[in-house]
Amino acid sequence: MTMNSQNEITEEILAIEADARKSVEAGGSPELHPRRDYAPYRSSLLRHPTHELVRVDPEEIERVSPAFGHTDVSLLESDLTIAHAAEPIGERITVSGHVLDGEGRPVRNQLVEIWQANAAGRYVHKRDQHPAPLDPNFTGVGRAITGENGEYTFQTIKPGPYPWRNHVNAWRPAHIHFSLFGSAFTQRLVTQMYFPSDPLFALDPIYQSIADPAARQRLIGAYDHSLSVPEYSLGYRWDIVLTGPKSTWMEGEEDHD
Ligand SMILES: [Fe+2]
Repeated sequence: MTMNSQNEITEEILAIEADARKSVEAGGSPELHPRRDYAPYRSSLLRHPTHELVRVDPEEIERVSPAFGHTDVSLLESDLTIAHAAEPIGERITVSGHVLDGEGRPVRNQLVEIWQANAAGRYVHKRDQHPAPLDPNFTGVGRAITGENGEYTFQTIKPGPYPWRNHVNAWRPAHIHFSLFGSAFTQRLVTQMYFPSDPLFALDPIYQSIADPAARQRLIGAYDHSLSVPEYSLGYRWDIVLTGPKSTWMEGEEDHD
């Protein structure tokens, strides 16, 4: 199968966005969530759900699903730079924000998990074989529990962009994957945080699969100088809103790039 060029993918992205804009102008609701069969994101065409989601009995599934206790998560796990003998290479960053419900109330005691590529854009994963170096001092996973005010904080390094095989010369903007566990396994939500002013936003079919520009914008952390730590790290603030019109987009089970 021949792969498309970036220009072809970008044309498709712009055409879908223009359609979505017209539909909103004609009185339709903005598309706050990605289309599950979003053609520019090629593999979504084959693996998007085509049937109604299966509703599970939450009590039944909790018998066999993972569980965690708050005492299982150490404070040290929110610092991704201290897990090895030496410090990882890269731009040290502090990422912090609030997990909020649709009314702006803090969501406390939430397990927040993150995973990310290293500064060179490489994951520690057997399926990631592109020729960027692994960092022996960086695994790229962390966990934290939100506090009384719903706040989480991670110390990490800024991930690099990385190539993927959606089309020729396809690159993902730098991002951190986030999972919110909820109070039970059936409530788990997964999304991605991006960094301001990334030149790859316009080209990325995953970022662009949300047709509404304002909803896309909510996935971008803001540089926050008050969060930067003198002589140590640069600060990015990213709030996660779980429900309502300002909610943060969450992935379906099938999206993992
Ligand atoms: Fe990723």
